[in-house]
Amino acid sequence: MKLCQLKEPVFAAHRGLSSLFPENTMPAFIAALNLGCTMIELDVGVTKDNEVVVIHDDSLDRTTTGRGKICDNFYSDIFFRADSGVVLSSGKISAKVPRLEDVLNLVKNRAVLNIEIKSEVYKKGEDKKSLEAMIVELVEKKDMIDQVIFSSFNHKILLRIRNISKTANIGILTSGEPRPPVGLTRSLNAFSWHPGHVNLSKKHIRYYKRHTGKKVIPYTVNKPKKAAKLIKSGVSGFFTDYPQKFI
Ligand code: G3P
Ligand code: CA
Repeated sequence: MKLCQLKEPVFAAHRGLSSLFPENTMPAFIAALNLGCTMIELDVGVTKDNEVVVIHDDSLDRTTTGRGKICDNFYSDIFFRADSGVVLSSGKISAKVPRLEDVLNLVKNRAVLNIEIKSEVYKKGEDKKSLEAMIVELVEKKDMIDQVIFSSFNHKILLRIRNISKTANIGILTSGEPRPPVGLTRSLNAFSWHPGHVNLSKKHIRYYKRHTGKKVIPYTVNKPKKAAKLIKSGVSGFFTDYPQKFI
């Protein structure tokens, strides 16, 4: 599905259907698609041998049976030794750490994918250009540039994405007190603003939309009452761990 085909409000499955399946795994992404989610969010890191993998943290420790930093492990070691299901579903579901390529193959023509790039994925002193280039190249190779939003809290990463691709859709992530990033949206020609929902007011949403004409898609909204209020205030949708409550 292309971004221009999205029907609002969008209920974006945060790390897949992460309230029912291990976050950022194929079972969570398949379940989100089966539920009818039109947008799926995930986080990426990069392994020692430059494989782009789907995982939230910079280390394997919290979500898998593996240990150590993603960037210190080879993908084959992560594949054979790290299981997210054992940790996140008490062994009920076996789930590997997927490669971004696996997820792109799964969602192609079925949903929009929001790829969040974490700044912590880099080693100190490493050339930071390479990861963004690898990700954009992969998305372009799959002919999916119009089906993907690239987002990051690190706005230098977003600038590098824009320098690599004129057509990439960019989502500006912000945390803390919501300040509509009007100037940044214009300079990046961003697709959307992704603020935290706490303290996000109708005033912020209206101001941003009036000055940029772009979409506001807050995270991570799990309560129906809050969701209804945000939709009334003009958001285009939101990221949620519980899309099953809204679809
Ligand atoms: O993209 C919104 C949300 O995913 C950002 O926070 O920590 O869940 O990656 P986090
Ligand atoms: Ca994320």
